[in-house]
Amino acid sequence: MEILYAALATLSLIFMLFFVKFPYFLHDCVFVMKTLGIKSKRTKFRKRVPFYTVLDCFLDAVHRHPNKPFIIFEDDVYTYLQVDRWSNRVAHALHKHANLREGDRAALLVGNEPNFIFLWLGLMKIGCSTSLLNTNIRGKSLMHCFMCCEAKVLIAGAEYRSAVCEVLPELRKRGVCVFLLCDNCDIDGLQSLKDKMDNSDDGPVSHTLRANITMRSPAVYIYTSGTTGLPKAGVTLHDRIWTGTFYQSLFGVKHDDVIYIPLPLYHAAGLIIGLNGAIERGITVVLRRKFSVSQFWNDCRKYNVTVIQYIGEIMRYLCNTPKRDTDRQHKVRMAIGNGLRADVWQEFQRRFGVKNIKEFYAASDGNIGFLNYTGKVGAVGKVNFLQKKLSVHALIQYDPEIEGPVRDSRGRCVPIPTGETGLLVCKITENTPFAGYAGNPEQTEKKKLRNVFEDGDVYVNSGDLMRMDHQGFIYFQDRVGDTFRWKGENVATTEVADIISVLDSVEDVSVYGVQLPGHEGRVGMAALTLKENREFDCKKTFNHVANFLPAYARPRFIRILRTMELTGTFKQVKTSLMKDGFDPERVTPPIYFLQESSESYVPLTHTHYNAIISGEIRF
Ligand SMILES: *[C@@H]1O[C@H](CO)[C@@H](O)[C@H](O)[C@H]1NC(C)=O
Ligand SMILES: *[C@@H]1O[C@H](CO)[C@@H](O)[C@H](O)[C@H]1NC(C)=O
Ligand SMILES: *[C@@H]1O[C@H](CO)[C@@H](O)[C@H](O)[C@H]1NC(C)=O
Repeated sequence: MEILYAALATLSLIFMLFFVKFPYFLHDCVFVMKTLGIKSKRTKFRKRVPFYTVLDCFLDAVHRHPNKPFIIFEDDVYTYLQVDRWSNRVAHALHKHANLREGDRAALLVGNEPNFIFLWLGLMKIGCSTSLLNTNIRGKSLMHCFMCCEAKVLIAGAEYRSAVCEVLPELRKRGVCVFLLCDNCDIDGLQSLKDKMDNSDDGPVSHTLRANITMRSPAVYIYTSGTTGLPKAGVTLHDRIWTGTFYQSLFGVKHDDVIYIPLPLYHAAGLIIGLNGAIERGITVVLRRKFSVSQFWNDCRKYNVTVIQYIGEIMRYLCNTPKRDTDRQHKVRMAIGNGLRADVWQEFQRRFGVKNIKEFYAASDGNIGFLNYTGKVGAVGKVNFLQKKLSVHALIQYDPEIEGPVRDSRGRCVPIPTGETGLLVCKITENTPFAGYAGNPEQTEKKKLRNVFEDGDVYVNSGDLMRMDHQGFIYFQDRVGDTFRWKGENVATTEVADIISVLDSVEDVSVYGVQLPGHEGRVGMAALTLKENREFDCKKTFNHVANFLPAYARPRFIRILRTMELTGTFKQVKTSLMKDGFDPERVTPPIYFLQESSESYVPLTHTHYNAIISGEIRF
């Protein structure tokens, strides 16, 4: 008997020690099981002829629950069956009036509205791929994006009439068929589509029209945000779409959840993780034309939303609103997104009582993703043994001067030790393919790193700097473009921005480096917007910055903006700020510079400026 007890005690001790040593073992196991389940589903999809696409998944959902609400938009509700019928109309109309056939491409300039979803599904029904134009772009940039994908038609939302008219002559010259989502149109070369949809048959679309679609067929072209330079069209294949589509399932979204999507559908997060994920779960989507701080919680209450999709800025805007008694009156149990700062996360959770925050890392033009499945604060994810096998990746030494990886004497990249920050790269394999950018072989090549660890290997350069700790937790550090070098040190713009945003007068902040004649690297500058009726406090800001930042990281210049220019996904547009620099000729005041001698920021005059340029004032 005693021997038995002793054996039991020893066993439990071993167990305990094991869990102390590997506290995330169970998390890993659960996650690996889920991943394996999804992997086997995907293998089945791949074996099916023709390939089982998200569209087939949608049609199965229609079959299972035709009368379940699928899209709720403003005051309209569309059931799964109704969306199916509308997308049939789209398919028939475009097949007939635009002569679209399998393998053709159609570009959409459509905002978040039900038509977007009808088009997305309808185009798949006739075997076409979709190019998703950012609805904020205009003129030359719009043409550039349109041209990348060699689309045969352009379909625009009614509110983009003038944006389309601006480029219409150019489009007509190229023989592009242009449609506007309206009932009639009296502009030469611009056709209405809504009436054609209304007049089309809503019956099923023959499978033969998409019979040759395979897992390798392009499904969608999604543009990079273009915070610097012109946007690039990342190609996403039908097979690859499933990766993001399964995120909701991995995160534990259930069949009776209701998801709120305020993110633009022309980006991967909204379309693939949000909308397609909802199709895979067979749930109801509350679609919002545009994110609105004031309507967010009202919408969640009104529609019984249980899952919300976010990007970091959305959460920050919500946390910045005045507290209300109704803050916790809602049914939201989960938030899925990325870019959430640890302090905002805690504040959001405390204030609104949302338990599950599911942070992930992924890029539409990358070939790897991580999920925060253990709930470790600050980590975007964890690397487990399965992921190591499925996606071969590494963190390598990065040199901000050349904006590329460090190569050793043999020309190979250098892995960094655990705990240090390096550039994330992931090998291009069958499992982690990279389809590149449409119509842009140079950029596609630029995104690839060759001969990384051995002759002939090819990796995708994620452009993201990450750190991994000894337990395998991955921490996002910075975007490559978001680091600059000053006095031999790397300055991470997001870190500096985090510190400055703590000042209570500051609404939003963007940090970047600008060139200074006679100096290597870039000198730090911050552009701020202030909260209503608040002033910029020179002395206080100086003290704060001096307290919290090393000398090299303190912004030498601060300019105050009325509004911050943002991309469609709320990323700051830094290109024009960087171009303006601190030249008082180009910058509308107020602009300040850090004057060491007076231990304060002081308004920058022309005299100061000239003294700085001539080197009389030194940093
Ligand atoms: C699809 O495949 C069939 C049979 O292989 C072929 O006859 C047809 O032309 C193909 N369609 C397209 C649009 O390529
Ligand atoms: C939300 O839930 C409540 C209570 O469960 C129900 O009465 C109401 O009809 C629901 N609203 C919607 C839009 O589903
Ligand atoms: C990961 O999830 C946990 C719990 O949901 C959260 O505390 C943590 O902040 C998350 N990490 C990030 C980077 O959001």
